[in-house]
Amino acid sequence: MRGFLAVLGAVASLAGAALGQVDSSKYVDPETGFTFSQYVNEKGIAFRVAIPATAKANDNYEAVVQIAVPIAVGWAGLAWGGSMTYNPLTIVWVNGKDVVLSSRMAYGYYVPPAYDGAVYTVLKTGTHVNATHYQVTATCVGCTLWGDTDTGITAIDPTAQGTMAFAYAAAPVTTPSNNASSFSIHDLIGHWIHDFPTAVNANFNATVAKNA
Ligand code: HEM
Ligand SMILES: *[C@@H]1O[C@H](CO)[C@@H](O)[C@H](O)[C@H]1NC(C)=O
Ligand SMILES: *[C@@H]1O[C@H](CO)[C@@H](O)[C@H](O)[C@H]1NC(C)=O
Ligand SMILES: *[C@@H]1O[C@H](CO)[C@@H](O)[C@H](O)[C@H]1NC(C)=O
Repeated sequence: MRGFLAVLGAVASLAGAALGQVDSSKYVDPETGFTFSQYVNEKGIAFRVAIPATAKANDNYEAVVQIAVPIAVGWAGLAWGGSMTYNPLTIVWVNGKDVVLSSRMAYGYYVPPAYDGAVYTVLKTGTHVNATHYQVTATCVGCTLWGDTDTGITAIDPTAQGTMAFAYAAAPVTTPSNNASSFSIHDLIGHWIHDFPTAVNANFNATVAKNA
């Protein structure tokens, strides 16, 4: 089923939304206290999203993203709108004992340039490198609504399901210390249906403050 979704993502997402089929599950993070809706791909990379209970449709509400990546992976990316192009991309990689988060948007099928329409604050708790994984936890303003009148405005409806996508590569990025580094094309991409109601946190702001 995952392979089918990876190949026929767009079609599967429409059918899936109609059937209420969801690929994400609930994950309560013991470290930060956030309740996330998470998707874990075939490589064991976990993509997690938390949103406030006050989130509304067509509103640029703040979200928390957490990505946990096996240490051997060069870079991993989350596409908030479920495609490579014209949606916020959250890219992560490891730099020694630090985790680097890079904000990108692709306008074609080439290395995505920096994107300043999404602003991240990395949370100290929930961001670490250990023997097996690197993980980042960050707030994002600009990850739940994007676009303009030319390309169209897209927003994540907190009461519904939406298609998200991932990409990763085994190869390390060119300059790990630089969040604007170039990197090479993915080894694998995939799409899934993410349930946003599962990601709702009643104490969102307090939990952000606690982990800052
Ligand atoms: C060096 C950087 C990258 C290059 C050169 C690249 C190139 C490409 C190419 C050539 C395709 C196939 C297009 C097609 O067959 O129609 C593709 C698809 C895709 N890429 Fe990338 N890519 C890069 C980075 C990324 C990143 C950072 C993401 C973040 C999640 C990403 C997500 C995707 C997805 C989800 C697809 C499937 C098509 C879609 O849903 O838009 N790519 N990429
Ligand atoms: C890199 O980090 C700086 C400082 O935090 C930030 O202003 C910039 O937007 C980041 N660039 C990318 C591509 O994430
Ligand atoms: C290492 O980090 C991963 C991802 O955050 C986590 O699941 C795992 O429990 C951590 N391992 C140890 C020994 O703390
Ligand atoms: C949470 O904090 C944001 C600013 O970071 C603010 O706009 C929002 O009103 C706060 N929400 C609540 C429920 O206090």
